[in-house]
Amino acid sequence: MALPSPEREQWSSRLGFVLAAAGSAIGLGNIWRFPFKAGDNGGGAFVLIYLACLVLLCVPYLFAELALGRNGKRNPVGAIRAIDARSPWPLVGGLCVVAGLAILSYYAVVAGWAVGYVLRDLVAAEAPDAVFARVIADPLWVVPLFGGFLFATAGVVAGGVRRGIERWAKILMPVLFVLLCLIIFRSVTLPGAGAGLDFYLTPDFSKVSGLVVVEALGQAFFSLSLGMGTMITYGSYLPDDENLIVSGGYVAAFDTLIALMAGLMIFPAVFAMGQNPAEGPSLVFVVLPDVFGAMPLGSFVGTLFFLLLAIAAFTSGISLLEVFVSYLVDETPWSRRAAAWGAGGLAFALGLPSALSQGAVPALSDLSWLVGDRFFGPSPGMLDVMDFLWGSVALVLSAALLSLFVGWVWGAEKALTELRSGTGHTVGRVAGPVWCAAIKYAFPITILAVLVIDLLYDVL
Ligand code: TRP
Repeated sequence: MALPSPEREQWSSRLGFVLAAAGSAIGLGNIWRFPFKAGDNGGGAFVLIYLACLVLLCVPYLFAELALGRNGKRNPVGAIRAIDARSPWPLVGGLCVVAGLAILSYYAVVAGWAVGYVLRDLVAAEAPDAVFARVIADPLWVVPLFGGFLFATAGVVAGGVRRGIERWAKILMPVLFVLLCLIIFRSVTLPGAGAGLDFYLTPDFSKVSGLVVVEALGQAFFSLSLGMGTMITYGSYLPDDENLIVSGGYVAAFDTLIALMAGLMIFPAVFAMGQNPAEGPSLVFVVLPDVFGAMPLGSFVGTLFFLLLAIAAFTSGISLLEVFVSYLVDETPWSRRAAAWGAGGLAFALGLPSALSQGAVPALSDLSWLVGDRFFGPSPGMLDVMDFLWGSVALVLSAALLSLFVGWVWGAEKALTELRSGTGHTVGRVAGPVWCAAIKYAFPITILAVLVIDLLYDVL
């Protein structure tokens, strides 16, 4: 076990960690991605498969990342190096660090759209899809929003673990919860909301194919912020006497609760207003404004909704930036402040092409001249390409490599010992070996299979 450097910060309490990590997990993934994936893939059936993936694979893997981080008391590169310094394994940590910044670069673009919807009453008389297309294509509107979002993110991360990240999570997560409850109340009390509840809560297994399982697993993964070193980094700020299983369990439970509640907020309203739930990524930005436009108190609820989305994205963006910043702070002479602003600036430069890819710069809106139209579908924009490369491929790849590292190089038994420290009693005699087997075999095999199926499906 590496000793923390004397000045290394820790969370002030379990609550602080749970809120910060839940803030990372709860993001666009819960409120934007989960509902449209469920809408596209058979509603309730998708939800059940999602829950199975979460409990069987993602939560056990979450424990591995937390244990790795706390054991090393370092960023992903340092945490791996603390176990095995001379092999190429620290490069996997490097992949995490780079991918975190790359995901942030386009995540902040989408988050900026949400902020734009809060600032301007976009539930206008104009057709919402026209408004959306115009807003995201206008560089004078998108670039300041995207830059402003990153600026605020860097500002919080510069403030440090306790006074920046933890403090803001403690303020924003309760606000998010209250907003969510308010909007659910409005949504389920609309006349005709019952059809939406039926769609969402009654599984329709005729819509389930193998690919739905792949989608559900990928979503569970992205939603818990796994595979990118976020949980390694947040785990590295935990004290040795913290019970990783209980606190990790809380994080997974909150994340799942909020995703399920997001469906409860969206589907009743969509059905009550006679809209289609299977609209894909535009569900939140195009269909919902239409729904808000048509319902009583709609523009107020609409503003609350996009505020909710922006808050959720903000605490996740903070965690994505923190991975890179913790690397700079641990491994270079940079101060936290300089690292936060430097990394924020880098994310801005990296994200500009994505920000300009929704119509502002035609060459970026359609990259088929560069990447063909095989892998990324017809006329892929910069943002789609970034999301596919980093949000899908790199994420899943590094998760598979991390679980191989924990299972075989560090050793699942040693990881289990780290996991047990702080629990006060031993993890059950059955649960321990099952967990070790999962980390060594089940997890890497399933994840690699998912990656291969996903890639094959995209190529064929
Ligand atoms: N989990 C967040 C969401 O649901 C996004 C996120 C934050 C993330 N950090 C991550 C995704 C690390 C993958 C890896 O929106």
